[in-house]
Amino acid sequence: MSPPKKDRIYADKLVEVHGFEFNEEVADVFPDMIRRSVPGYEVLGTLLQIIARRFVSEGTHVYDLGCSLGTASLGIAEALYPERVKIFAVDNSPVMIQRLAGKLESLNRDFRISPVCCDVSEISIENASLVILNYTLQFIDPVKRDALLMKIYSGMTQGSAMLLSEKIMHEQVDEESFMQDLHDRYKLAQGYSDLEISQKREALENVMVRDTDTHHLERLRRAGFSRIYVLMKHLNFISYIAIK
Ligand SMILES: C[S@@+](CC[C@H](N)C(=O)[O-])C[C@H]1O[C@@H](n2cnc3c(N)ncnc32)[C@H](O)[C@@H]1O
Repeated sequence: MSPPKKDRIYADKLVEVHGFEFNEEVADVFPDMIRRSVPGYEVLGTLLQIIARRFVSEGTHVYDLGCSLGTASLGIAEALYPERVKIFAVDNSPVMIQRLAGKLESLNRDFRISPVCCDVSEISIENASLVILNYTLQFIDPVKRDALLMKIYSGMTQGSAMLLSEKIMHEQVDEESFMQDLHDRYKLAQGYSDLEISQKREALENVMVRDTDTHHLERLRRAGFSRIYVLMKHLNFISYIAIK
């Protein structure tokens, strides 16, 4: 297998920085981009497999909402194989879903993953033992976030789990700038330049809208979840597990 293509999207000075989109250019480099940008991304993949084995039972559904190239779905399918569990991998980026469908066709495994190209607001959630929302909610219109979590909660079986991962905004200005600075340094250590970091930040402005930890916890409680635990936190990236 060839190594993932290196993310150089913001390496050269751009005349104009456009708003970030999950288009073909991003899909081409996405595995490298997310691995070098999100501290803990690989650990989360391992935890997901452990959580899937703990929560998913035969005959139920798994939803990977904002699945991109389907890394989480593929990891979960691998962890559960050959159990008969249906995984819905949902994303509104046609190119991401096409790439995932192509990958599934090229595999020799009968993974029961259905790639679905639609907005998360359009998918109905039923009989779910596990729902994954990894770094997706932050790209959804803030006024639609409550409704999405309520829909997810009502489609989950009793005792099932939802995994929510996000880049958060810290409430204290000092903590926020400290964590941002460390994250910039993390990206420098991953080989990104100052120019790449600043142009990507500009592209994400107004596209990725972060919530605070308090805001997330309040929304999860409003949706109905009573057991909410922090699974991991690296700098300003947090993962919660919420159990119904
Ligand atoms: C940062 S990526 C998610 C990464 C992925 N979950 C993973 O762990 O590899 C966010 C994804 O959410 C998708 N997305 C954003 N808004 C969406 C929406 N309203 N409905 C469906 N997908 C959406 C984007 O197309 C993108 O692929």
